[in-house]
Parts: sequence; C-alpha cells; structure tokens
Amino acid sequence: MRLRDSIGRTINYLRLSVTDRCNLRCSYCMPEDGIGKHAHGDILSYEELYKIACVAVSIGIDKIRITGGEPLVRKGIIGFLHQLSEIPRLKQLVLTTNGVLLEKMALDLRAAGVQRLNISLDSLDPQTFAQISRCGDLTSVLAGIEMAKSCGFPIKLNMVVMRGINDHEILDFATLATTSATTVRFIEYMPAIREQNWQRYVVPGSEILERLAQHFTLIPVEQAEMSGPARNFRIPGAPGSVGVITPVSHHFCSECNRIRVTATGLAKGCLFDESQLDLRAALRSGSSVQLAHVLNALVNSKPVRHQMNPDECHHQAFSMASIGG
Ligand code: 5AD
Ligand code: SF4
Repeated sequence: MRLRDSIGRTINYLRLSVTDRCNLRCSYCMPEDGIGKHAHGDILSYEELYKIACVAVSIGIDKIRITGGEPLVRKGIIGFLHQLSEIPRLKQLVLTTNGVLLEKMALDLRAAGVQRLNISLDSLDPQTFAQISRCGDLTSVLAGIEMAKSCGFPIKLNMVVMRGINDHEILDFATLATTSATTVRFIEYMPAIREQNWQRYVVPGSEILERLAQHFTLIPVEQAEMSGPARNFRIPGAPGSVGVITPVSHHFCSECNRIRVTATGLAKGCLFDESQLDLRAALRSGSSVQLAHVLNALVNSKPVRHQMNPDECHHQAFSMASIGG
C-alpha cells in the first residue's frame, strides 16, 4: 500500500528521533550555550516510540531512520532497535550517529538489525573537528568508523561543508571514497539556528562538484528508490562514491518522501515549516486508529515546499538536535 500526500508524493520514510541530547555541540546544529533540553518526562518512552513506528508502518512507511540528538546516548537503545527490526513490513532500519560511541556499540547495532549507518564527520583534522563540534575528539569517531566497517556496516559519511571552516577538506573527504567503500556526502550548510550572515558559510553543491571535477572524473549514478535527496557520483576505479545534498541552492521538495517525529512526540511534515501535530494525546488514548489518523493528517498537510533559500528564510531558529536533522 502506498501512502501519498496531497500532491501525490509517495511518503514512505519516517525519521524518528529518540532523544534531544547529544555528546557533541556542533556549531551548525546548536547555539554555543546549547539548547533548552526537555525534561526526561517529556521524552517519549520506548513503548510510545515503538507504537508510533508500528502504526507508521501500518499506513505505508517502510523505512525508518533513528536520529537524535545523538541516538546512541539514550539508555536501552539497542533493545529498542532490536524490537523495531522485527516489525514485519519494515524494509529498512537505519541510523544516523556522530560516531563517538560507535567503537563500543557497532557490534551490538549490527546484531540488533540496523542495516546502514550515516555518520556525521565534518573534518579530518583534530583541531578543526574540535572547533566545529565544540568538544569532540576526532580519534574516537575515526575508531568508531573503523569498528563499524569491520562489523560489516555500509558507511555513509555526511560532511556539512562550511566556507572558511572546513571547505578546504573537500578533496580529502572525496579521497576517502577512492580508498575505501565509503559513500561521502557533502551537505550544504543550512540556516537552522539562523546565525547572522549565514549565507557566508554556504558552498553551493555546484561549486563543490566543480572543485571535485578538477581532480576526479565524476559519473552520475541513477537514483535508487528510497535513496534520498543526494545526487551521487561514481569515480572510476573508486570503491566508494560521492554525493551532494543541496537543500539551500536546489530544494528537492518535489521528491520529498519523509515525515519526522521528535523525541517529545511532535510530528512534522517539513523541517522548515513550523506546523506540527502533537501525537501524545493519541498515544495516551491507546488507540492505534487515532494515532494512524493523526499521522495521515500530517501526511495530508505536508507543505509543497520549504521557503528557505539564499535570499530569504522565514522559519524560527531551531536546533537539528531537537528535530532529528
Ligand atoms: N546544515 C546542514 N546539515 C545539518 N545537519 C544538522 N544541522 C545541519 C545544518 N545546519 C545534519 C548533518 C549532521 C546530521 C545530524 O544533520 O548532516 O551530520
Ligand atoms: Fe549532536 Fe548531531 Fe547536533 Fe552535532 S549535529 S550537536 S552530533 S545532534
């Protein structure tokens, strides 16, 4: 059964945040003094999150990505993932992590049925990494990535490219795709936290590709189903691939297939749209029918496109950690 929104887009992908907490403080994700974290009591229990996942699958979702904050900091996450992986008709269970805890958790994640990992990594230089993440230790992330690879995970690395901060490392990141079976994705900086003059950080996807093309031959890859918004390229002879994600210079709203649920139970049809539906009353009622009704209403009210581009953005500042990126 296909779930379609009001303009005919197929919606099959749920991003489910399990916590707004994080063990890093990335500068593009949250302001320096952090975000007002929710009290533990406001965060949905695993039972509630599981219920949302089951009902979402029953109405047509077949891919779930677990996000945060940093999902691996929440206690009990492995058991929860195991439960999710056993939902019949869920085709893909994947997770986004900053990699800090992967060295000790990768094996358990694999055993719990997680199929793929997206790992955020914005610099290969310890100092730049510490500057961007405001506290992170690059060594632990690199060790986590190696462990994940040795556990058999296909790896995607997500690099948020910021002019003057880490854009001199674009080629170094692309080289990772030539030396190992890693997918490297370059993401345009998005003005989530609405920093002053945010445009100065954006390196458009077209410029990223031009810079890459000066050193590598880039062969466009056909979009696979459920592959998401990246435009991907093969490099001849390379075991990995590269891609660009261009939310700012080229919105991909017409192909958007996703909905989001925050760790506090707010369902959102679009990252950059303030409207949201609260799932908690439906959860408390214990009625799957009611929950399905709210999720269907969310899909039906999904905005046609977001209003965020280099000239204007109207959204209220938010942290990706509170919505799940
Ligand atoms: N711009 C672009 N990508 C972002 N992410 C979070 N905040 C931003 C932002 N402002 C993405 C990054 C990060 C993931 C958790 O969410 O890819 O790795
Ligand atoms: Fe944490 Fe991810 Fe936000 Fe960085 S981007 S602070 S790792 S939630």
